Amino acid sequence: MENRKSHYASFSNQVDTTSLSLEGSAWQVQTQFDTFRVTGMGDGYDVRVRSHGMDTLPEMLDQSQKKSPLGIVVDSNVAPLYGPGLKNQLEKAGYKANLMIIPAGENSKSVSSLEFLWGEFLSAGLERSSVVLALGGGVIGDLAGFAAATYMRGISWVGIPTSLLAMVDSSIGGKTGINLEQGKNLAGVFHSPDFVIADPKLLSTLPEMELRNGLAEVVKHGVLADPGLFEMLASGWVNVQTHLEEVVKRAVAVKIKFISADPYEKGVRAALNFGHTLGHALEKGSDYQLRHGEAVSIGMVYETKLAEKMGIAQAGLSVEIAEALFKLGLPTQMPTGLDPDKLFKGIRFDKKKKDGVVRFALPAKIGAVQPSVIVKEEDIKWMITN
Ligand SMILES: NC(=O)c1ccc[n+]([C@@H]2O[C@H](COP(=O)([O-])OP(=O)(O)OC[C@H]3O[C@@H](n4cnc5c(N)ncnc54)[C@H](O)[C@@H]3O)[C@@H](O)[C@H]2O)c1
Repeated sequence: MENRKSHYASFSNQVDTTSLSLEGSAWQVQTQFDTFRVTGMGDGYDVRVRSHGMDTLPEMLDQSQKKSPLGIVVDSNVAPLYGPGLKNQLEKAGYKANLMIIPAGENSKSVSSLEFLWGEFLSAGLERSSVVLALGGGVIGDLAGFAAATYMRGISWVGIPTSLLAMVDSSIGGKTGINLEQGKNLAGVFHSPDFVIADPKLLSTLPEMELRNGLAEVVKHGVLADPGLFEMLASGWVNVQTHLEEVVKRAVAVKIKFISADPYEKGVRAALNFGHTLGHALEKGSDYQLRHGEAVSIGMVYETKLAEKMGIAQAGLSVEIAEALFKLGLPTQMPTGLDPDKLFKGIRFDKKKKDGVVRFALPAKIGAVQPSVIVKEEDIKWMITN
């Protein structure tokens, strides 16, 4: 060791593992290299979280041997901000790139947008070896990923998430799809991206409301598996903004941990539904007046109260979570005027219902969750009305 010391000291990346667990060491290494590996579905893929990470896109495309022409799918809000820059950057690197612009908003996750994109892919001459770049929030990721999955029996796609929600959640895990008239995400497939580049610098243009929306999912990730992340969030908005890159990295690491362990949602991945079983019912019950992040925020508080009642969590956990959410400007109280019966039905008919029973992901403490707890109807009713 003495002899090799000076040689090791010459390496540009160093991790002192003296007081770290194996998991802690792995975390330090991934953080230093800004790159996380998703495994479990197909060959796996890298998620790079790095400020100015977009600059490395051509090099990563070269490495994965992608060929022109490329399609850049982007929405009408993000297109003027980052579309031409990305196109120029790719063209300078020798790629032929076509911008394909979709109207911003959830309504674009539709059959007609899908048809529009297939047409764009054809007229741009995309082939089996081409790649679709999804530059945008979760809407663009879900839509462009699904369009790529279904074009010529499946071509590659790359995620370039631009919203916080897309960085920490929707761009990772391979779920792609669109909405049908009957409900959200009813048509889709698992189709992993070739890689994902999350560049926290892009969040500088994201409206504050959208940032808060994404923060609800980040809080969820802290509660599920990263007490350190939860602590950062609990110290409030300013601290989060100053440490945004670390916040994104830690939240990404949690999502990857769950999906790599259970890529097709047969077991522990269900933990990611924490706050969502009630959250989805709230979104629907409020006729989508509540935004997804707001509904999940309220959902987490009430589902934790349920965990306390069932003896899964210690009393006080729901208050601790509610305080953190409140400091981030997220709602924690059930809005008045919602019909409890409608909410109850919404939960019973949530698509996560299996074998005629309703299951919740409930936290035991900050950093630990029970992914699939069967909850009796009377307890669900108690949660809604308390
Ligand atoms: N595939 C999955 O696993 C998964 C997981 C969670 C959510 N989702 C889906 O994600 C979607 C929600 O994603 P979202 O919240 O990102 O919505 P979104 O894609 O509509 O983006 C939110 C808004 O922010 C704008 N925007 C995005 N990035 C910006 C930037 N950098 N600067 C300025 N404006 C920017 C968009 O134009 C849009 O108006 C839903 O359709 C949901 O179903 C999918």
